[in-house]
Amino acid sequence: MAEYTFTIRRFNPAEDKEPYEKVYKVPKLASIVTILDALNYIKENVDSSLSYRHSCRMAICGSCAVRVNGKPALACITKIVHLGTDSIKLEPLAKYPVIKDLVVDLEPFFEKHKAVKPFLINKKENISTIEPDSELKQTPEELELYLQFAYCIKCGSCYSVCMGTPDLSEGFKEGFLGPQALAQAYRYSFDSRDDGFEERLDVVASPEGVFRCHFAASCSAVCGKGCDPALALQLLRRAVLFGKKH
Ligand code: SF4
Ligand code: SF4
Ligand code: FES
Repeated sequence: MAEYTFTIRRFNPAEDKEPYEKVYKVPKLASIVTILDALNYIKENVDSSLSYRHSCRMAICGSCAVRVNGKPALACITKIVHLGTDSIKLEPLAKYPVIKDLVVDLEPFFEKHKAVKPFLINKKENISTIEPDSELKQTPEELELYLQFAYCIKCGSCYSVCMGTPDLSEGFKEGFLGPQALAQAYRYSFDSRDDGFEERLDVVASPEGVFRCHFAASCSAVCGKGCDPALALQLLRRAVLFGKKH
């Protein structure tokens, strides 16, 4: 039977001194379409010690991002046939601490995310007193301003390829906030229900904010959700320099 060859980087920090690679053969069955299907096959039929993470299987939870032949991708929606090769190398995302095999610790990434206050800051309304028919409505144009950035599922891929971001493999490090956090600063600041732009400025316009971006856009190139963080950073940079209305 025709087979794929999966070379997977393995590492159990509790037992191994160094990461190593292990090769697995996976049959080309009709039921094995995505990278996640192949990982499940290996786990169930070949090597139950392999660790990887997934939950939703439909590009919503953000937990399954891995490096596929060197490039970050969501395992659950990456079709093997689209890779153009039967030899597939899987590694954990770069820049994060490895918990085991393909599972990385995203906690330091979320520390950066939290720094931009990724929630609506509304100073005009008392939410608890809003009548159902007088909700904080938006026009389609207002929605369009931030919608694509609201699709971010916090998979961590964009951060892992950004040349300006610090390596988080030893834990949280000060430094450039990175594409995901700053794109979310844009997403909330340009939501018509939000009044938090000024509150986020001390972080967004700091030396570790939007002006550290080199605009090479590798973040946007790897986003599996079609977000364009590089665009958000440029728009945010303009807002910092000229104000939100420009
Ligand atoms: S912007 Fe895209 S690549 Fe970055 S964390 Fe969000 S979904 Fe993942
Ligand atoms: S465009 Fe900016 S945020 Fe995106 S990868 Fe490049 S330096 Fe990082
Ligand atoms: S399993 Fe949820 S995004 Fe892939």
